[in-house]
Amino acid sequence: MLHLKSRTEDRWLTQVDEHLEEMLIDHAHCEKKAAGTALNFIFAYVENLDLCREMTGIVNEELEHFHLVIELLKRRGIRFRRLKPGQYGRKLNDLVRKQEPARAVDRLLVAGLIEARSCERFQRLADHVGNQSVPDQELADFYHGLFESEARHHSTYTRLAMDFASEKEVLERLDELASLEAGIIAPGEALPRMHS
Ligand SMILES: [Fe+2]
Ligand SMILES: [Fe+2]
Repeated sequence: MLHLKSRTEDRWLTQVDEHLEEMLIDHAHCEKKAAGTALNFIFAYVENLDLCREMTGIVNEELEHFHLVIELLKRRGIRFRRLKPGQYGRKLNDLVRKQEPARAVDRLLVAGLIEARSCERFQRLADHVGNQSVPDQELADFYHGLFESEARHHSTYTRLAMDFASEKEVLERLDELASLEAGIIAPGEALPRMHS
């Protein structure tokens, strides 16, 4: 259950076709950022042992994903490099309320929604490259393989938010943030990115 309010449109797959290399480079950056986000949660809420244990697992998995993507880039002869980031993450982080504990709830739910959207897009990407006239089976298998862990990360972040507010409050806020997320991603961005 990903709690997303929209399905990625075909226009994003057109961007994937036209800029596959840049998408893959951006994906590597996303995994690195995901590891950084999980590590930041440990620094911010170090007294929450449940959170620290879960985040340790996520940091390790995201770094492993980062490693897998840069290996994939290497096999394909693509040079990993800096990219100008898209606006998606910043726009979502702007929705985070300022006062604790609402801030913790929002930070965790936003992190979880980014996981959910990545997960949904990995699936679309895998199906797309696996079903084209000349299938890219390596890439299809790669993205199918990431689906399960990103879906689990989404559930973990949502569950951890319930340490900071009641289940009812968390689910209501998740519903609200998911609608806003769908609005943020709908128009797309000119820069080809995992979340454009
Ligand atoms: Fe990941
Ligand atoms: Fe993840």
